[in-house]
Amino acid sequence: MQMLIPPPLSLYVHLPWCVRKCPYCDFNSHEGKGALPFEDYVDALIRDLDQDLPLVWGRSVHSVFFGGGTPSLFPAAQIDRFLQAASSRLRFAPNLEITLETNPGAAEHGRFEDYRSAGVNRISFGIQSFDDECLRRLGRIHDSAQAERAVKLAQDAGYDNLNLDLMYALPGQTLAMAEHDLQRAFALQPAHMSHYQLTMEPNTVFFARPPQGLPDEDSAWDIQERCQQLLADAGYAQYEVSAYAQQGRQCAHNLNYWRFGDYLGIGAGAHGKLTLGAEQDILRRWKTRHPTKYLAEAGKPQGIGGDERISPGRRPFEFMLNALRLNGGFALEDFETWTALPRDSIQSPLALARERGWLVETAGQVVPTELGRRFTNDVVALFLER
Ligand SMILES: C[S@@+](CC[C@H](N)C(=O)[O-])C[C@H]1O[C@@H](n2cnc3c(N)ncnc32)[C@H](O)[C@@H]1O
Ligand code: SF4
Repeated sequence: MQMLIPPPLSLYVHLPWCVRKCPYCDFNSHEGKGALPFEDYVDALIRDLDQDLPLVWGRSVHSVFFGGGTPSLFPAAQIDRFLQAASSRLRFAPNLEITLETNPGAAEHGRFEDYRSAGVNRISFGIQSFDDECLRRLGRIHDSAQAERAVKLAQDAGYDNLNLDLMYALPGQTLAMAEHDLQRAFALQPAHMSHYQLTMEPNTVFFARPPQGLPDEDSAWDIQERCQQLLADAGYAQYEVSAYAQQGRQCAHNLNYWRFGDYLGIGAGAHGKLTLGAEQDILRRWKTRHPTKYLAEAGKPQGIGGDERISPGRRPFEFMLNALRLNGGFALEDFETWTALPRDSIQSPLALARERGWLVETAGQVVPTELGRRFTNDVVALFLER
């Protein structure tokens, strides 16, 4: 039997509280009321991690991502405590990337130095826009001056690996305003930019009551095309639907998701995906979603919200759902290694996608064409089990 090596492993840690819930956001984030139980929550994270450890014995962790919610609400001492506990239980690869998501309205002076001492080496800022009126309409707790100040504080603390999240197609936003947002971002010289189209997600305030002045589809498309060009001109190469980076500064953690790598998901509502044993069974596991319930249940069997095996028949679809988001596509060899399926199993959908001009294949590398990137959902659907 062929020796099977599992894909690289990442660690995702969910920190679920925010100062205020934004009206467009459907993440598992909760308005924090009163004093937040940071210490108890970190204890719960460690119990949660201990429970999952047998699933990843002996494997190295290649990246850690503190996502939210607003992780920057947590004192650096608690982030430090978690990282120390995690690194004593898991093997941390040398120079691993450790990212912490930060809301510029919840970024205190002095904290970045302490996050750095704790081991965090990448900060991802939720900027959204540099236009104060847009920020107000989005219900953000910060203005543009605060956003710039927060980024500079991080840079002063020695961070050069920064991501800025911007959203476009905002209520009342013109093409010129979206361009201006990018110019303000470029002036801060981040290594990485995420540029998301604002979407109306079910179970959000905006979904129930859409804001006025949303750009129509054509205008949103114009903004996207123009901004892609501006990003490229400024030295940010697009490598995924919404991700752009300077040379060599792609996000290792997100790349691992998109390559169908493995990840442990720790924290309220966190999702994990793990390849198990010689058979390379693939397990998806998620945790209790509500923070209060999570605090009580983490580390106990009931703290596991659910477990699901990905059947071999479904693996090609799930692999493509991720890999075809990448501009560079994927190597057929990686498909075989990480799904434990032979490349022949996707021969006919691949041939059909090539015929339709959606994918090209050169020397074992499958790459989406521009047309394919426009119709990703249709391309991915070809790989559904029939
Ligand atoms: C979990 S948030 C992390 C940052 C932090 N919580 C904040 O908002 O400052 C991740 C990013 O997803 C993006 N996002 C959230 N909801 C979105 C939506 N409905 N449409 C497009 N992007 C969205 C935002 O750019 C946000 O910064
Ligand atoms: S701060 Fe971030 S995670 Fe929190 S509600 Fe707003 S967008 Fe969502």
